[in-house]
Amino acid sequence: MCGIVGYIGKRPAVPILMNGLKRLEYRGYDSAGLAVIQNETLWLTKRKGKIRGLERQISSLNIDGTPGIGHTRWATHGEPSKINAHPHTDCTGRIALVHNGIIENYRLLKKQLQAKGHVFQSETDTEVLVHLIEMFYKDDLGAAILKALQLVEGTFGILVISLYEPDRIFAARRGSPLVIGVGDGEMFLASDGAAIVEHTRNVIYMEDDEIVMISSEEIQARNLKDETVIKSVEELPFDLESIQKEGYAHYMLKEIREQPRTTLDSMRGRLLLEEGTAKLGGLQNVWDRLRKSRRLIITACGTSWHAALIGEYLIETLARIPVEVEYASEFRYRDPVLSENDTVMAISQSGETADTLAAIREARCKGVLALGLCNVVGSSIARETDAGVYLHAGPEIGVASTKAFTSQVVTLALIALALGRERFLSAEDGRSIARELKSIPEKILGILEHADYIRTIAEKFSHHHQALYLGRGFNYPVALEGALKMKEISYIHAEGYPAAEMKHGPIALIDKNMPVVIIAVRDGVYDKVISNIEEVKARGGWILAVVNQNDTLIRERADEIVEIPVTANCLTPILTVVPLQLLAYYTAVYKKCDVDQPRNLAKSVTVE
Ligand code: AGP
Ligand code: GLU
Repeated sequence: MCGIVGYIGKRPAVPILMNGLKRLEYRGYDSAGLAVIQNETLWLTKRKGKIRGLERQISSLNIDGTPGIGHTRWATHGEPSKINAHPHTDCTGRIALVHNGIIENYRLLKKQLQAKGHVFQSETDTEVLVHLIEMFYKDDLGAAILKALQLVEGTFGILVISLYEPDRIFAARRGSPLVIGVGDGEMFLASDGAAIVEHTRNVIYMEDDEIVMISSEEIQARNLKDETVIKSVEELPFDLESIQKEGYAHYMLKEIREQPRTTLDSMRGRLLLEEGTAKLGGLQNVWDRLRKSRRLIITACGTSWHAALIGEYLIETLARIPVEVEYASEFRYRDPVLSENDTVMAISQSGETADTLAAIREARCKGVLALGLCNVVGSSIARETDAGVYLHAGPEIGVASTKAFTSQVVTLALIALALGRERFLSAEDGRSIARELKSIPEKILGILEHADYIRTIAEKFSHHHQALYLGRGFNYPVALEGALKMKEISYIHAEGYPAAEMKHGPIALIDKNMPVVIIAVRDGVYDKVISNIEEVKARGGWILAVVNQNDTLIRERADEIVEIPVTANCLTPILTVVPLQLLAYYTAVYKKCDVDQPRNLAKSVTVE
């Protein structure tokens, strides 16, 4: 969840580390720290709060040493505080370490280390690592790290520097991403390529259970069995421009506004208009198995889970393959019943979500075909699945996922279309859906033109403390997603429901203080949704309805309406979600919330 950066080379480490940390701040931001080797001493500083606090703290100091490591934390063990911030050091102050992940057996290890006389400073799980390394150190730091990690249960991405071997950085990973940037006589390390892309696009992705010794010229990789591993250099699939705000007030707004392009990028080269189908290169080798699947289980977390629900409706409607959707956190632990004719598909923007990764491992362990839908190229889920499709939405920095969601739904629609055409869908129906898909980017552009009007609705919203989101059919998951966006960034308590479920409980909440957002597009359940609107009105509720253009029936009943263009029923979620993203965004802005870094959240959840 946190951000990790490291640098070794001829330049002073601090500016490079600080810049890297700023780029990674969206991954964790409750405290931050740096350690640098400077004139044969280990210089260390840390601080509670955001990176700019740390930056102020060190601005007057003259620290020009190298190598160095940095960390921006998302606390799992021990409150956010200066003491608990990383880097952590051993008893002698000669070894410094930063860590992303959780050491699950830390209590036992801590007791054993304390019994041997080690004195702990922090409440973190992390600190046991650096004391273990201290305990094992004789004359080879790499060997000591290896021994320490062999005792550890849990997940880690770590960087270590030490006065014992001052011209090296050691890195190791299990379950938390780490990438090495190869420069000219210098090396960079980071938990995310975004931290180093301005220096180099030549990168080496570390794999689980690898430990790497890095000098400014050289990289030596071994696995935790102490065998040599050969690594190859790859190119980072994005550039500096794509991770910059480009004049927008927030990344979230930039990413909402990018959706005409990102949805197009997700279908580029995949949509076959003439044949009325789609071609997904990444699934080519497993297509026959997927097509013949008896059942598809889609697993994910959060927003990606909402996309999975839409995937269920899409694939069952267009391809008539039974689909189940499971929270990855449940799937991984409940010993799911799987047979060889099942396929499991994981959806994950980051490709690093710990629960989703574990769900995929569980599926593979049971011998079923495991597929991945990821945005981040080279991510763990992408690497650990049998096959998959990249979203091509470009880096998503805002903690609240927006453009990844619409690209997930577009990609699921492509898969459903291609599967459908090989099973039941006629060429004519296929062509009509393909045409509609092609027009989606243009239609999103049209919705974005209503941003100012949505901003005025958001102002009203910002005075409320709660909201209900209702939708039916394809738009039921959009109600869930709209509510999640609202609560994540504006801290207004919002709940999504299938509209008809309202009368089974939530209706008790409705009064003039309860805004109700209803997605009421002209689809197969339009009349039913109108009845739900009447039920809310009868109880004095305030209604914002997302409707199709030229809808008159709902205009008369709702307090506010936002119009979206007409499209195929199964594709409406890609459009209806956009005004809800904008509504959440502007509400959070009115409430002066930290949109891109909402409290308690972090971008990629690499811990359980
Ligand atoms: C989305 O706005 C959230 N911040 C969160 O629910 C996210 O979708 C979830 O953690 C899954 O992430 P992933 O897609 O990277 O696996
Ligand atoms: N578990 C560690 C801690 O709480 C690391 C957290 C992180 O990944 O930021 O300090």
